[in-house]
Amino acid sequence: MSVLSRILNRTPPARGLVVEPMRRRDLTAIQVIERQVYPQPWSVNVFTNEIEMARQGQRYYICAHRAGELVGYAGMMIVADEGHITNIAADPKRQREGVGRRLLAELAWEGRRRRCVGLTLEVRISNVAAQGLYHQFGFEPAGIRQRYYENVEDAIVMWCHNIDTAEYAARLMQLSPESTTRGGRR
Ligand SMILES: CC(C)(COP(=O)(O)OP(=O)(O)OC[C@H]1O[C@@H](n2cnc3c(N)ncnc32)[C@H](O)[C@@H]1OP(=O)(O)O)[C@@H](O)C(=O)NCCC(=O)NCCS
Repeated sequence: MSVLSRILNRTPPARGLVVEPMRRRDLTAIQVIERQVYPQPWSVNVFTNEIEMARQGQRYYICAHRAGELVGYAGMMIVADEGHITNIAADPKRQREGVGRRLLAELAWEGRRRRCVGLTLEVRISNVAAQGLYHQFGFEPAGIRQRYYENVEDAIVMWCHNIDTAEYAARLMQLSPESTTRGGRR
């Protein structure tokens, strides 16, 4: 960890990550992670449908690889000028190494490229790791969906507004200097 990261008490930027659109050939590795990190993992069919919707422009799904190994993935649904984050996960062996931050930054840049003004998502009330990540990006709680998960656990609905501003672009560049800003700076 660099001196600056230590002073900021923040994980340094994830090195050596290659972020690319999700493809069907990624799904075997994705399933291994998905089954470890979620009580109700998405099936291959769900991911296949989402990849198809991405081809049609209604979704955006990406994978992060390091040294040829799939270490994380994320996606969002784009509706009008809002991006709804549908999934974000890092391999449990590779968590707290900046993978989630890089993936979320890539989603936010893509949201900007697609003229979104806000991002939203649901997160389990118990999921403090994900809430910490979202907080870094400026997501704020906006409401509760009661018993949203398995009809038992509540979801916090979070929103991040004004992602189309120059201030937000600066925030993204600070959070993830290595992310793909091309076309997203405005
Ligand atoms: C949420 C998740 C994607 C974060 O990915 P990650 O690669 O481990 O996160 P990063 O290393 O990029 O960390 C970014 C920030 O998230 C927060 N964070 C991540 N893990 C955390 C933990 N275990 N405890 C508290 N905060 C945590 C911190 O704010 C962290 O920044 P810092 O390291 O500078 O303090 C990962 O924990 C995961 O895959 N969880 C299981 C799937 C999931 O719950 N997805 C979200 C569904 S809503």
